[in-house]
Amino acid sequence: MLIIQISDTHIVEPGELAYGVADTDQNLLACISHINSLSPKPELVLLTGDISNSGKREELLYAKSLLERLEAPYYVIPGNHESRDDLWSVFSTKSCPARVDGFINYVIDKPELRFIALDSTHAGQPGGKICPTRANWLDQQLAKQPDKHSIIFMHHPPVKCGVPETDKDGFIGIERFTEVIKKYSCIKAILCGHIHLQAHIHWLNTIVSIAPSTQMPLVLDLSLPPESRFYLDKPAFQMHYWTKEQNLISYPVSIQANQTSYFFDLAKNM
Ligand SMILES: [Fe+2]
Ligand SMILES: [Fe+2]
Repeated sequence: MLIIQISDTHIVEPGELAYGVADTDQNLLACISHINSLSPKPELVLLTGDISNSGKREELLYAKSLLERLEAPYYVIPGNHESRDDLWSVFSTKSCPARVDGFINYVIDKPELRFIALDSTHAGQPGGKICPTRANWLDQQLAKQPDKHSIIFMHHPPVKCGVPETDKDGFIGIERFTEVIKKYSCIKAILCGHIHLQAHIHWLNTIVSIAPSTQMPLVLDLSLPPESRFYLDKPAFQMHYWTKEQNLISYPVSIQANQTSYFFDLAKNM
């Protein structure tokens, strides 16, 4: 089973550039074209937040018009760059199938894997938050089938990533969230975005796996924060492969135009 994760697309209005330099729509289209050409076909595509750059409804509507080109079903959760209300008004109910207590929390139950969307946003703040309501909802969902292999997807990583500019924003409610995660051995991964860098962190009894931004990787600086900066890069996303042996393998994908491949058997290259 193939699962695609796209994160931090930061789509702006048509004809505009994010931060004056990033043509984020073109990068997303390149990702979509590549994803549609994959074999085997992905079962679903998860968008882990910051879909829009400033949360304007026009940006979200434009993002939706691009994402509708995906052949696989796709699902969205909010990042700190958009409000859950706007996301819900644009993407419900096809790509955002349910809302619980106002939060964008829902479950996609497949025979092999359960996907749990968790809204980690804290209105008006850049950092993450899982309040008791959301933590209790997660606990209840996991308790329904405590042995079923599960993937949680949420925008904010619940752990510090070593990146000063995002670490300083914190994560409210980490104590209760930690309690819930510790109770279950079925959580194969927690898929996140937000950092704009691919990173994998072994945390408690699971892996926090952070996808790259589709275009704007952070300039990694582990010293105390200078001004936050990003590069412009090739279109990128994350691919997760659930094997028959029930292992989750995560591959980074970076799309290069006109890339040539060669056989390891030199004779075949002659
Ligand atoms: Fe972002
Ligand atoms: Fe973010």
